[in-house]
Amino acid sequence: MFNRIVEVTGLQKHFGKYEAVKNVSFHADRGEIVGLLGINGAGKTTTIHMLLGLTKPTAGTVRVFGRDIETSRTEILSRVNFASSYIALPYNLKVIENLLVFAHIYGVKNPKNKIEKLLEDFEIHHLRNATSGRLSSGEQTRLNLCKALLNDPELLVLDEPTASLDPDLADKVRKVLQRVNREEGCTLLTTSHNMLDVTELCDRIVFMSAGEVVEEGTSDQILRKYNSDSLEDVFISIARNHSVDGRGDKVASSADLKKVKVS
Ligand SMILES: Nc1ncnc2c1ncn2[C@@H]1O[C@H](COP(=O)(O)OP(=O)(O)OP(=O)(O)O)[C@@H](O)[C@H]1O
Ligand SMILES: [Mg+2]
Repeated sequence: MFNRIVEVTGLQKHFGKYEAVKNVSFHADRGEIVGLLGINGAGKTTTIHMLLGLTKPTAGTVRVFGRDIETSRTEILSRVNFASSYIALPYNLKVIENLLVFAHIYGVKNPKNKIEKLLEDFEIHHLRNATSGRLSSGEQTRLNLCKALLNDPELLVLDEPTASLDPDLADKVRKVLQRVNREEGCTLLTTSHNMLDVTELCDRIVFMSAGEVVEEGTSDQILRKYNSDSLEDVFISIARNHSVDGRGDKVASSADLKKVKVS
C-alpha cells in the first residue's frame, strides 16, 4: 500500500509581487496527524488551498496518494475532504438538506444513517431541521465537520477545526477526530492556533513563518530543541524572532531561532 499520502515539494505562491508562500516542503504518511502551525499570514491556508487544487501554485508540486494534484485532481478529491471554520455551507438550506446534497454529490450509500450518526457525534442532532444560516459559528463549524466526514475520506484536511468552539466542544471534536484517525486510518492535516489541538492530536508539527517551513518534528522534539515545556512559548518565540518588515520580509533567519530562549 502507498504510505506517503501527501508530498508537497518546493511550493510557492506569489500574489503579484507578494510571496505568500516562498518555499514549502513537507509530507504526511498514512495514518499520521500532521499539524501545520504558524502566525497569522504565514501562508497556511494558501498552502492548503494549493494542496486541494483550489489555488494554482506559482512553482512546486503537490502529490496526494502518489498522484499529481494538477493532473489527477478529480480522482484525488474523491478520497479527500476539507473543513474550515470560515466556510459556511449554503445558508438557506436546512442542516439535513445540506448534508443530503453533499452525500448525493459524494455518492454515499445509506446517507440517512451516516448523517444521523455524524450529527450525533458532533452534537448538532437537535439542529437537523434548522436553517443553516441561523447556526452559531460553533454550530456551523460542526456542520462543516459532518460534511467533511460524509465520504469517509482517506485524507482529511482541516483549517482551524476548533477555532470557534468552546473548550468542551473542542475537546469532544478532537476525540471524534482521534477516533476517525485510529479506527478508520484517516490521515489528518490540520492547521490550528490552539496548542491543545496540537499537543493532543498531532503526531508531527510543521511550523511555517513568512511563507517558509522553519521547524518540523514531534512536539517533544521541538520542546527539547527549544528547552521549553510549553508549545505556546515556542510558538511565541518563533513568531517574534521571525518579525516581518513590511509585508513578509523576514528579518531573522530560522537558524537564529535556535539561539532564542523563551522567557
Ligand atoms: N488572493 C490573495 N491576494 C493577495 N494576497 C493574499 C491572497 N490570499 C492570501 N494572501 C496573503 O497571503 C498571506 C498568507 O495568507 P494565508 O491565508 O495563507 O495565511 P494563514 O497562515 O492561513 O494565516 P491565518 O493564521 O491568519 O489564517 C497573507 O498575508 C494574505 O494576506
Ligand atoms: Mg488561515
